[in-house]
Amino acid sequence: MPQHVWVDGRVLPADAPAITAFDRGLLLGDGIFETLRARRGVVVELDAHLERLRESAVPLGIALPPEDAPIVAGIAAILAAEGLADDGSSGRAPGDAALRVTVTRGSFMTRGLAPSGPSAGTTIVIAAWAHDPPDPARLRDGLSLVTSSVRRDPGSPLAGVKTTSRAESVYARLEADRAGADDALILDTTGHVSEATSANVFAIRRGRLLTPPLGSGCLAGTTRAWLLEHAPIHDLTPEEDELTRADLLRADEVLLSSSVAGILPVGRLDDEAIGRDGAGPITLQLRDQREAWIDRLSRGPA
Ligand SMILES: Cc1ncc(COP(=O)(O)O)c(C=O)c1O
Repeated sequence: MPQHVWVDGRVLPADAPAITAFDRGLLLGDGIFETLRARRGVVVELDAHLERLRESAVPLGIALPPEDAPIVAGIAAILAAEGLADDGSSGRAPGDAALRVTVTRGSFMTRGLAPSGPSAGTTIVIAAWAHDPPDPARLRDGLSLVTSSVRRDPGSPLAGVKTTSRAESVYARLEADRAGADDALILDTTGHVSEATSANVFAIRRGRLLTPPLGSGCLAGTTRAWLLEHAPIHDLTPEEDELTRADLLRADEVLLSSSVAGILPVGRLDDEAIGRDGAGPITLQLRDQREAWIDRLSRGPA
């Protein structure tokens, strides 16, 4: 569990009072965030995450600091405070961490949805957790998914924007929990696959690596982009195409991708097995490739 938290330039004890009860992130989910992975104190694809944070800020008109430097410094400070910037001598997998950077519009003392009246400006919170590798059973059997009753509306101006308003995703995740599944599959309003609650979805079928287009309302995941770029190395043809639930069920393999959890196999959807029993072999190869790539990145140039 985190011992510290970085708030607006200061490292505080994790349980210290840090934001006001009038923060719009708390009251309205009026904020944006990024979740990142770090190893040996090196943040994976940091630039892509910071760029996406800036893109998320635009539709909501949230004012980020003009330079990335304060956020980058905050990440370094929290990793150091949590002892997660080390080279592996501690015994744990070398300084593996999950990070969350949250930016809210800040505190306003006035009521209502429109931000009005004086405010001290955005609140920036950065936290880090030790990241452990997944349970080996998950890599052997694959995750189980259930189709959520939540639908993503690709026409929404906030579709694919990483806002802190996550109540629908929480709802979907609770549906998965109640069904004894690991995660939920979210379809868009046309009934096509969009993504999982916090990961992109891919299907592998006859040499093709398929994933829903951004028009499905899914997040433009950084790991998704990495997979589309690296697919040809594995003789896979990357394709963004509409997928149905039935397409996933008849795929050779299905996988989820996200920065922190990495590439994870999916073994079952709504209690039906996908492909051969258990995790797909190409998925596990892709996972190993990405983990090795992260490790090389964290060691810096040879
Ligand atoms: C809804 C959603 N989709 C996809 C992803 C995967 O994105 P990334 O690979 O950038 O972590 C995330 C990650 O947090 C997410 O929240």
